[in-house]
Amino acid sequence: MRRRVPLRLAAFASGRGSNLAAILEKIDTGKLDAQVVLVLSNNSDAGALDIARQHGIPAMHISRKQFNDDQTYENALLTALADSQTELVILAGYMKKIPVSIVRTFQGRMLNIHPALLPSFGGQGLYGHFVHEAVLAFGCKVSGVTVHLVDAQYDTGAPVMQRSVPVLEEDTAETLAARILKEEHQIYAEAIQLFAEGRVRLDGRRTKILPPEFEKQP
Ligand code: GRF
Repeated sequence: MRRRVPLRLAAFASGRGSNLAAILEKIDTGKLDAQVVLVLSNNSDAGALDIARQHGIPAMHISRKQFNDDQTYENALLTALADSQTELVILAGYMKKIPVSIVRTFQGRMLNIHPALLPSFGGQGLYGHFVHEAVLAFGCKVSGVTVHLVDAQYDTGAPVMQRSVPVLEEDTAETLAARILKEEHQIYAEAIQLFAEGRVRLDGRRTKILPPEFEKQP
């Protein structure tokens, strides 16, 4: 059943923010029952913060460097999330590890998107062009996108959705990245919509997607 109240999202992003922009476009066109209530970045120059401001969304720069210790840093993140009544956290090109206290608070309610088919080509150091260069260096015929739950490590949480993308013989890291990014801009909103509809269950490491509910006849 479609929610009457949009799912409240907080997006963490360090870079240009094209995934954030795609999600906002899906919301604006009625394809995603959600609302971005906060955009948070460790990088004050992040394009994602500009996108947030253009949409009138609270945009916060919070970096560990602004604080004397881990505890006050983590409290600042938790307070921002609590104040905005965030229901689901989405990482969209966020380049910092999420502190364990925040992973725990949002267990099962925090997603990341990775531009490869995990568990291949993930983990520390495998981000951005490094992912696509590694895929090409191995000679893969397919790559893809993974949307997964976040745990305390990089790229190790349970997958929610995965989609493959072909690798073409003439591909460079740039052309492959562009083909994958196009798919990212579709799949992230689809995965978030499953959460908006309350259709994701976790069974061990396997996520189960419940069938859509139909409006009950009066
Ligand atoms: C995307 O490729 C995403 O999969 C990865 O970081 C990139 C972020 O791009 N985690 P953008 O800032 O959303 O354009």
